[in-house]
Amino acid sequence: MKTRIIKINKNKIDIGKIRDAASIIRKGGLVAFPTETVYGLGASAFDKRAVAAIFRSKGRPGDNPIIVHIAVKEDVFKVAKEVDERAIKLIEKFWPGPLTIVLKKNKKIANNVSKGLNTVAVRMPKHKIANLLIKESGVPIAAPSANLSGRPSPTNAKHAIEDLNGRVDAIIDGGDVDIGVESTVIDLSSDKAVVLRPGKISLKELRKTIGEVKLHDGREKKAKSPGMKYKHYSPNARVIVVKGNKKNFDRFVKLYSVKGKVGVVDYGNINLMAKNLFKRFREYDNKRVDYIIVKWSFELKDGFEVGVYD
Ligand code: TXA
Ligand code: MG
Repeated sequence: MKTRIIKINKNKIDIGKIRDAASIIRKGGLVAFPTETVYGLGASAFDKRAVAAIFRSKGRPGDNPIIVHIAVKEDVFKVAKEVDERAIKLIEKFWPGPLTIVLKKNKKIANNVSKGLNTVAVRMPKHKIANLLIKESGVPIAAPSANLSGRPSPTNAKHAIEDLNGRVDAIIDGGDVDIGVESTVIDLSSDKAVVLRPGKISLKELRKTIGEVKLHDGREKKAKSPGMKYKHYSPNARVIVVKGNKKNFDRFVKLYSVKGKVGVVDYGNINLMAKNLFKRFREYDNKRVDYIIVKWSFELKDGFEVGVYD
């Protein structure tokens, strides 16, 4: 299939182009688009066939459910069956933004969005292009990250084109994303609030808003968030995270340079690290690097918790 590349300036949005993309979604097609976290690959969440096409074009494992994106807060009721007080508090505080909430599923959402679960993950992105695309489509948009399954998430259109050109109807090029890592996923489908996937919104901020929140242990055999079973953020190179001082880091770089080709990731600021990490992963993969050595010097007090991924 021929993939249309639609370039849109996020500071001067051409609504005609958004409408073109929205009409593709309405007709059951697939459109990759920017959000503030990473690029998503969208289809109508009401259209079972379109959702099935997402799985095919990404090569996504069949049991990994997809996040549904909305443009106005009230639309959470079109996606979820029950929205309790905890959810309302989180929505008021963090939407639009990088928080995904798992709730009991509304029947209108296509079953293959949630892959047999009776829950649905929903989020309202804070990105003008994403927001307008959802509004103009007139339907909630189911969208996983716009990468081939197993590759690092795309943080600009070039990454999405690299993975999905010829496999989807259109890719909106809206420039670099702001955050660079995926949304935090919190499960509120039972009495116990659990963070299934760590992200920009920290446990501390969540606890301040709704009280007790647990962090799900990704190593558990039967992962609650099915996506946690699979490899994430994974370049072909082996990633080595080095904690501690510069001397320690330099020692590792030297050591691994003897074993193979080394790429280094070193940012002094955690937001810059998040924004550039996946881009660096892809660059180093293109250069066929063997080891990516990441310098980690952050205290994780505010935002970005470290998760356990296999
Ligand atoms: O920032 C983001 O969340 C990006 C942008 C595009 O919104 N999306 C994204 O989607 O990262 P994806 O498909 O790469 O990751 C979705 C995660 C997976 O770990 C999946 O298992 C989990 O959310 N998930 C989706 N629906 C779920 C559900 N009903 N219950 C539990 N986990 C769910
Ligand atoms: Mg993903």
